[in-house]
Amino acid sequence: MNKKFSFYLLIALIAVINSHSSVISQKNDFRTPKRIKETTIFKNKHERNKENEERSKNKIYSRNIVMDPVLSKVNPNINFPIGLLIIDIDNDTEQTCTASVINTENGNIGLTSAHCLINDNGTTFDPKDISFSPGYDNQEGPLGTVNVEDFAIPSLHFLEPLIEDYALVKFAFTDPNGARLQDHTGGLGWRFDIRNNTLTNVFGYSGSDDWVNCTKDGYHLCEWQGNVQDEEVFYIIDGIDLGKGASGSPMIFQYNRTENLGYVYSVYKGLIENTYESFAPVLDEDIFIQLVLRLS
Ligand SMILES: *[C@@H]1O[C@H](CO)[C@@H](O)[C@H](O)[C@H]1NC(C)=O
Ligand SMILES: *[C@@H]1O[C@H](CO)[C@@H](O)[C@H](O)[C@H]1NC(C)=O
Ligand SMILES: *[C@@H]1O[C@H](CO)[C@@H](O)[C@H](O)[C@H]1NC(C)=O
Ligand SMILES: *[C@@H]1O[C@H](CO)[C@@H](O)[C@H](O)[C@H]1NC(C)=O
Ligand SMILES: *[C@@H]1O[C@H](CO)[C@@H](O)[C@H](O)[C@H]1NC(C)=O
Repeated sequence: MNKKFSFYLLIALIAVINSHSSVISQKNDFRTPKRIKETTIFKNKHERNKENEERSKNKIYSRNIVMDPVLSKVNPNINFPIGLLIIDIDNDTEQTCTASVINTENGNIGLTSAHCLINDNGTTFDPKDISFSPGYDNQEGPLGTVNVEDFAIPSLHFLEPLIEDYALVKFAFTDPNGARLQDHTGGLGWRFDIRNNTLTNVFGYSGSDDWVNCTKDGYHLCEWQGNVQDEEVFYIIDGIDLGKGASGSPMIFQYNRTENLGYVYSVYKGLIENTYESFAPVLDEDIFIQLVLRLS
């Protein structure tokens, strides 16, 4: 990869909301938005267009694999692959993101943003401090909270935090009957061939005012639907800030409301402030497959 990102200025915007200490003992009953993390960058449109030309010239990758969504085996009528990813920072602080179970052979793998799994000082969080509640909506989902066992982040993301901002998470899920997590939740399909102006549904736990008809406190599952632009390195949603807590939110193609499933093709990364556009990485197929294999 010889992309030029040197002109980018990356700024991590972190809102820290300190909770009252009295909440701690009630942690299992409800959660408080102690802290929400979001990445924001500044980049102007002209620079991005230049970069698009570069990238089009150098395009060598294929975007071929299509993995179909899979229904829950436990209850095919109820799928809840999207959930709240919770990172325990310390007794007083938690960070939230959005993650989703994707259809894999392994059955216990989910997708989120890489930056959700990385500390302020650039090191990864300890998996034991991370948990996931699929189907969360102002309260834990049907399975409660599932622990995280491991995760895989593209190594390129550590070199340049702006790029390849996606990661796979492996859940430490056990079931007396041997069912895997996706056998309960269903799993989103995934693909790499999504192009310009694609009708997309995005789901996330956000604090941003730009979502409609939703309680925007970072703990309710909100939905956005609209067209997404493909700008080669990133997908762009113009005029919308998906906001804090929505990091890792799946961007879903052919979302079927009855099944609550579809094909995830990217995850929300952050806001480009000067143009007010939400952006999300175009997944690299080869890297993505490597991440799946690493956790399988
Ligand atoms: C967190 O809480 C535990 C148990 O209440 C306590 O032992 C520990 O010292 C606390 N840690 C911090 C950093 O406050
Ligand atoms: C920075 O990383 C170290 C581990 O290398 C960790 O112990 C420490 O808590 C981290 N600090 C912050 C502020 O995240
Ligand atoms: C939001 O809710 C109102 C009232 O139910 C409805 O008229 C409107 O279409 C909804 N907007 C969206 C984008 O769903
Ligand atoms: C995508 O469509 C928008 C207009 O809807 C256009 O401005 C943009 O240049 C298109 N991008 C590509 C890569 O064709
Ligand atoms: C959505 O899923 C339902 C239930 O599986 C199915 O009957 C329906 O045809 C699907 N809708 C579309 C548009 O694919």
